[in-house]
Amino acid sequence: MERYLVKGGRTLEGNLRVHGAKNAALPILAAALLCEGGCELHNCPQLSDVEAACHILDHLGCKTHRQDDVLLIEAGDSRICCIPEQLMREMRSSIVFLGALLAKYRQARLSFPGGCELGPRPIDLHLSSLEKMGVVFTQDGEQLLCEVPNELHGASIDLPFPSVGATENIMLAASLAKGETMIRNAAREPEIAALADFINRAGGCVFIEKDGTVHIKGVKKLGACRCSVIPDRIVAVTYLCCGAITGSTVTVSDCEPDHMRAVFPILEEMGCELEIGEREILLRSPKQLKAVKHITTMPYPGFPTDALAPIMALSTIARGTTIFTENIFQNRYKQAWELCRMGADIRSEGRIAVVRGVSRLHHANVRCTDLRGGAALMIAALAAEGETSIEEIRHIQRGYENLPAVLSRAGACIVQEN
Ligand code: EPZ
Repeated sequence: MERYLVKGGRTLEGNLRVHGAKNAALPILAAALLCEGGCELHNCPQLSDVEAACHILDHLGCKTHRQDDVLLIEAGDSRICCIPEQLMREMRSSIVFLGALLAKYRQARLSFPGGCELGPRPIDLHLSSLEKMGVVFTQDGEQLLCEVPNELHGASIDLPFPSVGATENIMLAASLAKGETMIRNAAREPEIAALADFINRAGGCVFIEKDGTVHIKGVKKLGACRCSVIPDRIVAVTYLCCGAITGSTVTVSDCEPDHMRAVFPILEEMGCELEIGEREILLRSPKQLKAVKHITTMPYPGFPTDALAPIMALSTIARGTTIFTENIFQNRYKQAWELCRMGADIRSEGRIAVVRGVSRLHHANVRCTDLRGGAALMIAALAAEGETSIEEIRHIQRGYENLPAVLSRAGACIVQEN
C-alpha cells in the first residue's frame, strides 16, 4: 500500500510554487473536445484527475500529448458520444463532459457520476438547465441517455444554487447552441471566468457581468487555441497552512492572491503575518496560532469549502475553540476522525464541527478520506511529534502535484513508501 511517512516538528523555509488549478483544467479539457484544430494548455498540472480526463478525451477520439506542463489536445470527429462507466467512475467530475458532448454531437450517453466521499453529488441542476436548452434525458439503469430531438437552443436559466459544475455544463452546451443563453445566479468561482476565457480564445462568445450573470452567444464552431491554466487557489491555501502550522516563514509563489481573499483574514486572525504581492504571498507564522471562533463556508467569493479541511488542521493546535459550519457539502468532516487519532479534539455533527485546540499533535497511522481531507492530514503530520504514516495517498495525488517533493525541498522530511 503506497503511503507517505512524515517526520513532524521541522520548520519550512523558502518558496512553495503553486501549480495550475485542477478545477480550471478539467472543464477546459472538456471544452477542448469542441475545438477543431487543436489546443495547447500551458501550466496544466500533472494530476491523476487530469490524467482521467485525458483518458476520456482519448476514448472520445481525441489525441492528447503532454510535454512537461503543456498538454496538447487534437479533437477528433469520431462521433463517439458515450463515456463508459469505468471512465466515469475514475473521476466524479467527468459529468462536465456532458455539456461538451451535447454541443458537439447533440447526444450523449454516460453513467450517473454517483456520490463521493463528500456525500451525494446530485446533478439535478445540470439536467433541469439543459432540458431548457432542448435536451431530453432518459434513464436506462445506471446510464443517462441524452438526446436533442429538435435543436440545441439558448435559454434563460436561473440557478437556485450557484453550482460550479452546472454553470460549466450550461456554458459548454450553450457555446455551440443556436441563440443566446443567460445564466443568473451562476457560480462565480475563478474557474468559471477561466472557462469563459478559453471558450472566447477558441472563437466563442461568453460575457460575464459584474454580478456574475453569464451570457453565452452560440457560434457555429470553435477553433484552435492556446491558453494557460490559472493557479490553483486551494493548493496555495494548503501551502500557506503548511507554513503556518510549522511556525515557518515561507513564500507561496506563482499564485493569484485575488482568488483567495476570503482566506487571508482567517490566517491573519490566527496570528499569521501576510505580505501579499502580485503573484506571491509571504507568510510569517506566529509561535502560537490563535483559534478563530467561527468559520463558515460559502459559495465564492465566500470562504471556500475546499479550504475547510486545511484550515481545520491548523485549528487543531490553535489556542481556543473554532466552530466550523459547512454549507456546501454534506460530509466535509471525514478527516476529523483521522485528525483525532493524532491527538486532535474535534466533535462533528451534520454541518457543524467544533475544534478545541490542543498543545501538540502526535504521530499516528492515518488514512486519507478525500482530497482535501488528505491535505489536512499532511498539514497536521508536519507539526505532529514523531513520524506519521499517511495511507490512501491516491486521494492527495488527485489534486496535488508532487506534494512530498515540494514540501521536502522547503525542509520537510517526507518519504513515499510504495
Ligand atoms: C466543484 O464541485 C469543485 N470540483 C469542488 O472541488 C468544489 O468543492 C465545488 O465546486 C464547490 O466550489 C470541480 O470543479 C471538479 P457544485 P461541483 O456543483 O461542481 C449541490 C475539490 O476538492 N448540487 O457547486 O460538484 C452539490 O451536491 C472538489 O477539488 C446539487 O444539489 O460543486 C453540493 O452540495 C471537491 N445539484 C453543492 O451543490 C446539482 O445539480 C455544490 O456543488 C449540482 C450541485
